Amino acid sequence: MQNYFIDTHSHIDMIEDIELETIIKNANENGIKKIIIPSADESSFEPVLKICEKYENVFCMLGVFPQEAQKWNEKTADTILTLAKNNRKVIGIGEIGLDYYWDTSFVELQKDIFIKQIEIANELNLPFAVHDREAHKDTFDIITRYNKGSDVLLHCFSGSVEFARECIKEGFYLALGGVVTFKNAKKMKEVAMDIPLDRLMLETDAPYLTPVPHRGKTNEPKYIPLIAQEIANLRGIEVEEVAKQTTLNAEKVFKI
Ligand code: NI
Repeated sequence: MQNYFIDTHSHIDMIEDIELETIIKNANENGIKKIIIPSADESSFEPVLKICEKYENVFCMLGVFPQEAQKWNEKTADTILTLAKNNRKVIGIGEIGLDYYWDTSFVELQKDIFIKQIEIANELNLPFAVHDREAHKDTFDIITRYNKGSDVLLHCFSGSVEFARECIKEGFYLALGGVVTFKNAKKMKEVAMDIPLDRLMLETDAPYLTPVPHRGKTNEPKYIPLIAQEIANLRGIEVEEVAKQTTLNAEKVFKI
């Protein structure tokens, strides 16, 4: 029985105002038994791996975030491949993708680095976590064209129900976070009600996107049950069912 939660996307390395020890303790006390840290760029690989070394139930993904694409260099691919091959705590590639919300002056480079990292995930036979901000079509097109067999998790899913259905049809998983608890997040609530439970995962994206009623505070994994409860309410099911299935999905995809 998976009566516990997994935070599949949590930048606990970026939380500055809460001690790591406290974050892990709070998570445990609230039933979050496993945490996955995505990385943003090469400079985060070492600190993220260090946290994974220290805590048995913390895992990580390696990757370069789209807005950091300019930091990619000719050694980055080898670094990711070597670290991933030599460290059992590296369980995916992420977070990778496209971001057209911030700086759009290097979109072609973002695409290029995204594709390179999908190929790395394929080579390693690892799943990858996708950041897609205002780039739904290009993100979808690149994944369907270049991915050769890796499981795909669209993190902080922000598309419509129609787009969610397209993604489900392709076999992608979607992760929902704190946004689903926001009053005005009509689209996200629709997605949370519509998609099959066996395609859903939970995430906080800490330290960002703190769920209601803690908006304004630093986000941390301990808030996952609030997200699960909102999804359960929307679907008219018990929160245990959300916990059980989302945990099962994460354990299957990330082999943890
Ligand atoms: Ni993130």
